Amino acid sequence: MAKKAFITGITGQDGPFLAKLLLEKGYEVYGGVRRASTPNMRNLEFLGIDKDVKLIEIDLIEYSNLYKIITTIKPDEFYNLAAQSFVGSSFELPILTTNINSLGVAYILDIIKTFSPQTKFYQASTSEMFGKIKEPMQNEETPFYPRSPYGVSKVYAHWLTVNYRESYGLFATSGILFNHESELRGPQFVTRKITRHVANVSNGSTEILELGNLNASRDWGYAKEYVEGMYLMLQADKPDTFVLATGKTTSVRDFVESAYKVIGIDIRWDGAALKEKGYDKKSDKLLIQVNPEFYRPAEVDVLLGNASKAKNILGWEPKIGVIELADIMVKNDINLLNR
Ligand code: NAP
Ligand code: GDD
Repeated sequence: MAKKAFITGITGQDGPFLAKLLLEKGYEVYGGVRRASTPNMRNLEFLGIDKDVKLIEIDLIEYSNLYKIITTIKPDEFYNLAAQSFVGSSFELPILTTNINSLGVAYILDIIKTFSPQTKFYQASTSEMFGKIKEPMQNEETPFYPRSPYGVSKVYAHWLTVNYRESYGLFATSGILFNHESELRGPQFVTRKITRHVANVSNGSTEILELGNLNASRDWGYAKEYVEGMYLMLQADKPDTFVLATGKTTSVRDFVESAYKVIGIDIRWDGAALKEKGYDKKSDKLLIQVNPEFYRPAEVDVLLGNASKAKNILGWEPKIGVIELADIMVKNDINLLNR
């Protein structure tokens, strides 16, 4: 009989990639969707799997609904990818972020513990938990210092996952994933904001790209490779905590340069901090400027992950680096404009 997997966050970036991978492996895949006035199946359609996933209405802040689903389906594997995942919004919506990202996980874990203890559980933890970093390279042992309501909410969910593993013997695993991007990335996140803008420029737009902190550095990988890591974590001999990362960090400024290079434009930077601007080296046209609106009340300056545990135990290793990632994303955004 086919294994059953339940994925929350099926309309986001990672959910569809993971669903596709599990469908290819012969799983019966269930996806949790939030009710919306206008359904958003864009990412599932993009991968051509919108008819293959069994969609079920859920909201992480509704216990009764989670209870019904878990006790009825009793999935072999439960991947909790749903979250209010935008760090910037978590400063405006701290309570909502906590309810979804922390309390929602408490509901799921407790339902699994009581009614479906054989279900393997994956929690989408994050490098944002390292925040104001305590070590230059972060691994599973690095202490946390979250810098946003989002980061704090995810620390709670991470420790609850560890606690349910240790207290009740659940197969509850936490994947601490560093930033991963793709053609399915939400448009608010900085990489997609940049690649969509660059695609528009290649199509004749003269709009100036406005960004926040250009110095922020992230360990950016490709989402399609990261969902393979999630799957491998639930196939391991025992539940655990794993970091997934590329081991390289790149500033927002350098990502902008890589994205513009895809359309043949080199950037010249001038000025500093709020006055920094980016120009087309050849034409001297202004392309990028800083807008403080996109700064955060507290920033995570730099993230850089060490994924050697995942490599040693799971055999997981990323292949796509940030330059190739920018290339994939800009070309995809250009294709979307030309459709
Ligand atoms: P995403 O694109 O923002 O997707 C989030 C998903 O959660 C969407 O499907 C969203 O549904 C759903 N959701 C939000 N609130 C919900 C609620 N109350 N009930 C049910 N569903 C809800 O996120 P992602 O990039 O795929 O990331 C997946 C997970 O990994 C998230 O938990 C994120 O925090 C974590 N993570 C991401 C990264 C990364 O770099 N991408 C790194 C580390 C960890 P709607 O479509 O209805 O909004
Ligand atoms: N979004 C955004 N927009 N970010 C900007 C901008 C801008 O205009 N300008 C500079 N940045 C900086 C942010 O301040 C941050 O330091 C960095 O770019 C990355 O921002 P995001 O792309 O919004 O991602 P994030 O790192 O805050 O969070 C993502 O990665 C986490 C893993 O570390 C999200 O996917 C989280 O859900 C995930 O947990």
